Amino acid sequence: MPITTCIFDAYGTLFDVAAAARQAASEPDFPQLADRWLALAEHWRLKQLQYTWLRAVTGAHGDFWDVTQEGLDWALEKTGLDGDAALKERLLALYWELQCYPEVPETLARLKAGGMATAILSNGSPDMLEGAVSSADIREMLDDTLSVESVGVFKPDWRVYDLVAKRFGCEKSDVLFVSSNGWDAGCAAGYGFTTAWVNRAGDPVDRLPWQPDHILDDLTTVPELAGL
Ligand code: LAC
Repeated sequence: MPITTCIFDAYGTLFDVAAAARQAASEPDFPQLADRWLALAEHWRLKQLQYTWLRAVTGAHGDFWDVTQEGLDWALEKTGLDGDAALKERLLALYWELQCYPEVPETLARLKAGGMATAILSNGSPDMLEGAVSSADIREMLDDTLSVESVGVFKPDWRVYDLVAKRFGCEKSDVLFVSSNGWDAGCAAGYGFTTAWVNRAGDPVDRLPWQPDHILDDLTTVPELAGL
């Protein structure tokens, strides 16, 4: 079946999750970040994701803003930056206006010009995603932004991936799912989507029962993968 629908993970795939800590480190108010912003960003991201998985398996759902704040609290303490209220407030504010990766607007524009349906499918809460889509100025190139909040559980619960067929009336085999998270791309392949893992960091493949169908350096070849 030809691909008709290109679905993108948001954080790390379209939006640069390290941008908040990097940006704060470049500001004169936060010299304490100079040698620690990258470690902080990595701990923050990993804890944020771990908390989504733990909440999903225990049924203790909270939204992505909850786990983003909880992950940041852990990461600040880990890097010796806890108790710095101004830094925490700035980092959280920056998370609402993350930069997108440079190839994102053109990739989405090419997909739309080729007649593809396009959407985000993300753990993000609707208001967080609204902020990110708006600050990256990519709304015109997306048919929709689908949030896990409509099913009340995080990825990779398959009820989340079900949202795509419900929204677009398509079959799993019509969908190319693109994520920079190896676990998300692997699990979505297990669900039945064709998947592309954007391996920006050159990481090893996740050892899961399923593997992504394609591994990319960035998003520039997604239109070709979709058959355009
Ligand atoms: C998302 C996270 C997993 O956007 O990156 O769903």
